[in-house]
Amino acid sequence: MQTKILCVCGSSRRDSLNQKLLEIAALGATQQGGAATHIRLRDFQLPIYDGDLETAHGLPQQALELKELLAQNHALLIATPEYNGGYSGLLKNALDWMSRPTQRDPSGLREFSGKFAALVSASPGALGGMRSQIVLQVALSKLGLLVIPHAFALSHAHQAFDEWGQLRDPTSDQLTRGVGAALVKRASTSTNGFRQASDDGIHLGESPTRAVN
Ligand code: FNR
Repeated sequence: MQTKILCVCGSSRRDSLNQKLLEIAALGATQQGGAATHIRLRDFQLPIYDGDLETAHGLPQQALELKELLAQNHALLIATPEYNGGYSGLLKNALDWMSRPTQRDPSGLREFSGKFAALVSASPGALGGMRSQIVLQVALSKLGLLVIPHAFALSHAHQAFDEWGQLRDPTSDQLTRGVGAALVKRASTSTNGFRQASDDGIHLGESPTRAVN
């Protein structure tokens, strides 16, 4: 089975530097044999999380759709912009809604648990959004995701791409693709004991040696 990677950017901006970087990391994933699915959080139009809203109406349909997308994928590739030393409210809000329990998912964490995640970030600043990665890592680990050590932070990102959205610097390009490739390698070799995704959603594996792919 082909390893499926869900690609999410924490910025919905039309010319997002992080979205450009994500697309290059995703190329690395497909070159490694994975299948990348791109979503834009803007398309989901989630309300800001509010417990009263949840009590009154349950989870918004868009949150259920995001949970289902996660269920259909083996791993998560995230590009995170840095806002004031953290990651974006857009991404946090999506993760907060996605972590809420449902009848099918009483812990709320079923779709996250035991899956691999990898991070890239881009910023015009000198640190390339690295601080947002650190903060995001903590939150993703809390959700049960296993964040792999391969990551890339693109500094001076406003000067880093050419007009076709390609990275000018071959080393940056290689390192970014390497993150996607490493994620596919990790996700495809993870053996049972972790939750496994399938076309019809998440299930617990039974054989201790069966690989995801
Ligand atoms: C920023 N930016 C920023 N950059 C950074 O390196 N460290 C930071 O703490 C912040 N803080 C910050 C706060 C807010 C509210 C905004 C809007 C921006 C700059 C940010 O990295 C830059 O706008 C990126 O281009 C955003 O990513 P996208 O949209 O290009 O993917």
